[in-house]
Amino acid sequence: MGSDSTIKTMDERPIGVFDSGIGGLTVLKELALQFPQENFLYLGDTARLPYGSKSPQTIRKYCEQNIEHLKNQNVKAIIIACNSASAQFSEIQYAGLPIYNVIKPGSQRALEVTQNLRIGILGTRATIQSQAYTNTIQALNPNAQIFNQECPLFVPLAEEGWDNDPITNLIVFRYLSRLLEKNIDTLVMGCTHYPILKNSIARSTGSSVELVDSGEAIAAWLQEDFISQRLSPRVSETPRNIEIRTTDFSEHFSQLAVRILNPVRASSFGVVDI
Ligand code: DGL
Repeated sequence: MGSDSTIKTMDERPIGVFDSGIGGLTVLKELALQFPQENFLYLGDTARLPYGSKSPQTIRKYCEQNIEHLKNQNVKAIIIACNSASAQFSEIQYAGLPIYNVIKPGSQRALEVTQNLRIGILGTRATIQSQAYTNTIQALNPNAQIFNQECPLFVPLAEEGWDNDPITNLIVFRYLSRLLEKNIDTLVMGCTHYPILKNSIARSTGSSVELVDSGEAIAAWLQEDFISQRLSPRVSETPRNIEIRTTDFSEHFSQLAVRILNPVRASSFGVVDI
């Protein structure tokens, strides 16, 4: 043991984060900014993307495999960043690890923000058809009125990096116009890819609708669990590691990842077989 008593590692292990692809990097970025001491291991299941068009059984199976993989990498907790996956996996403890999904944090945040209790939800087909947000929000407040919209074209636009593009603006407007007629004051971006298109979404909604980002909401939950000591922090003066792993190799992924994560910097990129 060294003589430097300032280095007290309480739990050095990384926090595992997984998503079907690049979208979960929006969640990783929030977490990395909020917890500058923590190590992170990100798994993007790019070989099996998209999840949002798959059946609940298949998505559940992918979740179990991703969790098993991250557990074998010795993570201390797992964040299911993907909304489509979160909708099928509500356990808060699994395989001996604390598990976090984004549905409840996003739902709670929406209820904190709304004034008129009229809340819109954007998501993949799998997320919207699961009714996970509707059920969770209405369990928390039965008076809330929920208006759902599937947006299957958003994920490819985000994966293509077409944020702030005139074509994206048009597609966003087409999906949102029906929702905006419902007099919603809050809109949950219920997919990790959607914050990448946030400028286009905000352009359609205008300033009277508050956008809820589940990545920001889950960071607040983690903070509470560090305070309550469900999770132990990493305490060290050595730089932390942010490792990004995907199940398929793509140069495009790494380039887009650097852009999404900025100003957070990944320590390494790699490919894994799970
Ligand atoms: N990242 C997924 C989500 O949050 C959407 C992408 C996909 O369909 O795989 O729902």
